[in-house]
Amino acid sequence: MSGVAQIDSRGRLCHLLSLEGLGADLIREIFARADEFAAAAKPGAAASSLLSRRLVLNLFFETSTRTRSAFEIAAKRLGADVVNLDSASASARNKGETLADTARTLAAMGGDIMVLRHYQSGAAHFLAAHTPPHLAVINGGDGCNAHPTQGLLDAYTVIRRRGAIDGAVVAIVGDILHSRVARSDMQIFRALGADEIRAIAPRTLLPAGLEEAFGAKAFCNLDDGLRGADIVIVLRMQRERMAGAFFYPGEAAYFRDYGITAARLQSAAKDALVLHPGPINRGVEIAGDLADSSRALVLEQVTNGVAVRMALLAMLAP
Ligand code: NCD
Repeated sequence: MSGVAQIDSRGRLCHLLSLEGLGADLIREIFARADEFAAAAKPGAAASSLLSRRLVLNLFFETSTRTRSAFEIAAKRLGADVVNLDSASASARNKGETLADTARTLAAMGGDIMVLRHYQSGAAHFLAAHTPPHLAVINGGDGCNAHPTQGLLDAYTVIRRRGAIDGAVVAIVGDILHSRVARSDMQIFRALGADEIRAIAPRTLLPAGLEEAFGAKAFCNLDDGLRGADIVIVLRMQRERMAGAFFYPGEAAYFRDYGITAARLQSAAKDALVLHPGPINRGVEIAGDLADSSRALVLEQVTNGVAVRMALLAMLAP
């Protein structure tokens, strides 16, 4: 998606809409800032005043637990004011107001950074194109398109645990078709030097053109796709995007054929790490005991998500 620049003429980040074209240097700069904030992100740490008198607007038109609360916590730890609007309270939409008008209204109240989650792909780019230039837009997940902060925190978590991504084989398993996380992860792991990116899913959940668009290899067989993988990213079935149909004959069959268990991971690299953006469906895409084991980084992802979002808010604040 194009139209609005997310990097200004001085090479600084002015919006975060997608990881496409962000470049390894800028990604490493975000990670270095996240390292600085890692201690301050911890519960009980004193709030900084870096963003005092700044207003962060969380505009969530789709449900969210992790992303919304992580942005709220990150903003508060930096001393910013936060206003949360979710789909229930975003009454403007029900009254016929367009997204652009809602955004302009909120910006007129003095917003500095707007985090948008929206069910339509491209909504964050649209918002950035229709709001005053001083307002920075962060894409908190748009339709099936992109979830750049999740991609950043996934790569950051792997680097903190493993040291580097260079040369790694990354396997993403699950509902690739509907997943904005898969798209952002494919972009960031590639940008940071992964040797191979694999997308594993039933044929009905594998979009065409993965190789051209993301440099990823498609696999329909789980064992083939997992062979030698260093990093396994597990995704849930996004039934809310399947318009009532389930793209595989039932959850039990899905778990049998694509569910990630300790036994299935035997064909992966010996110390392969397992990530999941959440929410987890135990016994559908991942076995509960594996999700709770030390090789699964699920809760580290959540913790690191606060530090990464603090870094982004600090870099985007005017
Ligand atoms: C993801 C999302 O919303 O795209 N969740 C998240 O942000 N942690 C993945 C999902 O909903 O499956």
